[in-house]
Amino acid sequence: TSTAATSVSICGDISSQLHGGYCHPLARSWQAERQLTKSMLIYPLFVSDQDDEELLIPSLPNQYRRGVNRLIPFLEPLVHKGLRSVILFGVPVRPGVKDALGTAADDPEGPVIRSIRLLRQRFPHLFIVTDVCLCEYTSHGHCGILRDDGSLNNQLSVDRVSDVAIAYAQAGAHCVAPSDMNDGRIRAIKLKLIEEGMSHRVVLMSYAAKFSGCLYGPFRDAAGSAPSFGDRRCYQLPPGGRGLARRAIVRDINEGADIIMVKPAGQYLDIISDAKELGKDLPIAAYQVSGEFAMVHAGAKAGVFDLKAMAFESTESILRAGATIVVSYFAPEFMDWLSV
Ligand code: PBG
Ligand code: ZN
Repeated sequence: TSTAATSVSICGDISSQLHGGYCHPLARSWQAERQLTKSMLIYPLFVSDQDDEELLIPSLPNQYRRGVNRLIPFLEPLVHKGLRSVILFGVPVRPGVKDALGTAADDPEGPVIRSIRLLRQRFPHLFIVTDVCLCEYTSHGHCGILRDDGSLNNQLSVDRVSDVAIAYAQAGAHCVAPSDMNDGRIRAIKLKLIEEGMSHRVVLMSYAAKFSGCLYGPFRDAAGSAPSFGDRRCYQLPPGGRGLARRAIVRDINEGADIIMVKPAGQYLDIISDAKELGKDLPIAAYQVSGEFAMVHAGAKAGVFDLKAMAFESTESILRAGATIVVSYFAPEFMDWLSV
């Protein structure tokens, strides 16, 4: 009819008209493949061996290192608001605790194992992830056991890291997450979980694509885990190594990982997207690391953007890239900002 002809000539090509699809807030939310919800978030906790400690970490805004006695009062309101999961990092601060083998990592009286027991008891619905690494516990600050020339002894490191994972699983961790980047650790942990009769109840989350770089600084302040010499470039991935990350992801899937993690997140969205493609049948996690978090705070403080707006934009971008789990220092704020 003449009416139809007129409207087409006014609007031009019908296929160019997109605004209608996202003019309403609800319609806008439908444009995303997934919505950010509280249950996607894992909150990092630094637990020290000083039971009553509560120490602000200057380089990591609003984040504290806490002793075991401080955990429950701190977490109670967060769990009440909907926090579903935490990841534990042990921080031995007592002098003389660190050694070349990271012996303190699986000390049954150490902060991680005591925290697992306490949290399991007090918050039966809280999902407890434990980061598994040696760098907080080694005198040299590296993520494994070293040879005399300072390089990683992969076999000894994998043996040790997998023992630590087993100790955390035995203490009641729901999920063990090795972040050490030694070759073959996923297989070793999976085999030990099977051997110990725990593989049916423990999630194995691999920090599969963990890149080296300058974004872990505030974490290393918090955890006291900066290497005393050298750097981590021979075990964490080079920032340009997309193909290498893909190989690491495929390898860890084949070795029995239940979840693949990418870290850092914001600078590595292509890698998250790769992980989603390569691991289309696995949940994909991403860690918005300490340096990313500190940058968001610094930008907001400098008036570049609003903190809450950037917290949402950065996290929703991580979901858009393909993650459905986000390890985030913003988790407490999101418990207030999100309704589900
Ligand atoms: C331990 C570990 C690190 C992070 C998670 N696990 C530090 C590192 O590898 O140096 C970084 C997390 C963050 O920066 O928030 N290997
Ligand atoms: Zn480490």
